Amino acid sequence: MTAGPFENLLVDRDGAVATITINRPKVLNALNTQTLDELRRAILDLAHDASIRVVILTGSGEKSFVAGADINEIALQTPISGRAHAMTGQHVFDLIETMGKPVIAAINGYALGGGCELAMACTIRIAVDSAKLGQPEINLGIIPGYAGTQRLARLVGRGRALELLLTGDQIPAQEAHRLGLVNRVVPAAELMAETRKLAATLAAKAPIAVRYILEAVHKGLEMPFPQAQNYEATLFGLVASTEDMREGTKAFLEKRKAEFKGK
Ligand code: COA
Repeated sequence: MTAGPFENLLVDRDGAVATITINRPKVLNALNTQTLDELRRAILDLAHDASIRVVILTGSGEKSFVAGADINEIALQTPISGRAHAMTGQHVFDLIETMGKPVIAAINGYALGGGCELAMACTIRIAVDSAKLGQPEINLGIIPGYAGTQRLARLVGRGRALELLLTGDQIPAQEAHRLGLVNRVVPAAELMAETRKLAATLAAKAPIAVRYILEAVHKGLEMPFPQAQNYEATLFGLVASTEDMREGTKAFLEKRKAEFKGK
């Protein structure tokens, strides 16, 4: 069953690749409660859909990926609702990180606050050269609440993260690339073609191995090293039970391209 239709998201499927477009261009795709909830449902739906192997996440319009949480809602929050709101956002972004399929953020413009946090929850980030990224919450007298303080520090290191978090600066895509905050920077006209090309490459890989690499990296980094190695070894053993391992090794020895089935 397909979740939706959605008011603030567009979901498009093309073979094994699904594209979610956050669609509130009038507010630069700011994430309000409803949009977060729609994102949660869309991600769960795609996670459970065996025909989908890769997800692309982008924003509608030419200006913005996501310009943050909706400041109209933030302005009204209480201590109780603010905590609940942060936990909801964290949960939705965790779902993106743990859905078991690569999610590529196609950053078509501003990725600020919750938008930068959303991009960081994705597996790989490709940004247009005109994009600006940052965590400007400090300028509103608040702090990031969708795990930005945690993912940014893990992605670019503590020192660089603290500078970005404390200045609230919007940095250009090239600078974000230098820091390791985005994987690639491309001209705007090439963003979707480049993203789809990468998505097709990832969609052709063995899905169970892809899932386990995601798990090994994300979960392993939160464990002590010996425990993480043990976890990796267990997943390494598990892939030995797959048809795809037999197909991949056989195809190599027969000097042909492997056809992976996700079994
Ligand atoms: N929440 C709610 N509305 C937002 C928004 C947000 N995070 N970001 C932008 N908007 C709205 C603006 O209020 C404006 O609405 P209006 O047309 O009714 O006035 C519209 O989107 C266009 O934004 P505008 O500020 O006019 O565009 P700009 O090109 O001058 O500036 C930004 C673009 C992204 C630099 C600026 O909108 C901005 O700083 N946004 C907030 C970023 C932020 O602090 N995010 C973290 C939130 S926790």
